[in-house]
Amino acid sequence: MERLDKIISHKLNITRSEAKSLIKSGSVSVNSLPVKSGDIKIGENDKISVDGKELDTEKFVYIMLNKPEGVVSASEDKNEKTVIDILPEEMKRKNLFPAGRLDKDTTGFALITDDGGFAHEILSPKRHVEKTYIAYLDKPFDAEVVRAFESGMTLGDERLLPAKLSPVRNDFTRAEIVISQGVYHQIKRMFKKFGITVIKLNRIKIGNLSIDESLAPGEARYITEKELLLIKK
Ligand code: URA
Repeated sequence: MERLDKIISHKLNITRSEAKSLIKSGSVSVNSLPVKSGDIKIGENDKISVDGKELDTEKFVYIMLNKPEGVVSASEDKNEKTVIDILPEEMKRKNLFPAGRLDKDTTGFALITDDGGFAHEILSPKRHVEKTYIAYLDKPFDAEVVRAFESGMTLGDERLLPAKLSPVRNDFTRAEIVISQGVYHQIKRMFKKFGITVIKLNRIKIGNLSIDESLAPGEARYITEKELLLIKK
């Protein structure tokens, strides 16, 4: 439940006192009934109108997409298909964008939202939200590579945060990598420093939330409130 004047000021991008005046002026109705006071509490199913026009009071959305190869992590692109283009029509809405970029050929967990604050929180290196990937490599890595990843290596002139690297089922051509920042082509460039090429890269987890394995490549579903907490933890 949230105060009417707060919602109005947020949605119309006006100050709280402007919202109060607007309500006083009789322009605002809730569930088709005119209201005059900004302190009434609005619930999820209440419909607010301003001058007869209904406000979109829907909350932010958070979508888990199993990104297939060949689509770009952008909201719009003149030449390429984007992660937004491939969402089911009923999920599309204004202002959706991918929170973080996966390369065109990287697959797996793409998080799509219209909540800029949330995206900032999970992307900021300061927040240390870990992203976990599985990489398929052209040759095995060794302990030297593990140590370099763990000690925070340098890419270009950027010093990276420590990253975790381990083999998958003792296969050193298959790596699980955990990073908590998103530098351009980061994982591919980290391996390249050791002459290792990443053949395939798949993101499996953001924070403590793993991708839903029932999602086929290209499929998406909403992230629940409980799951959102797992991301930020
Ligand atoms: N690191 C990469 O090299 N590519 C990605 O898509 C994500 C992390």
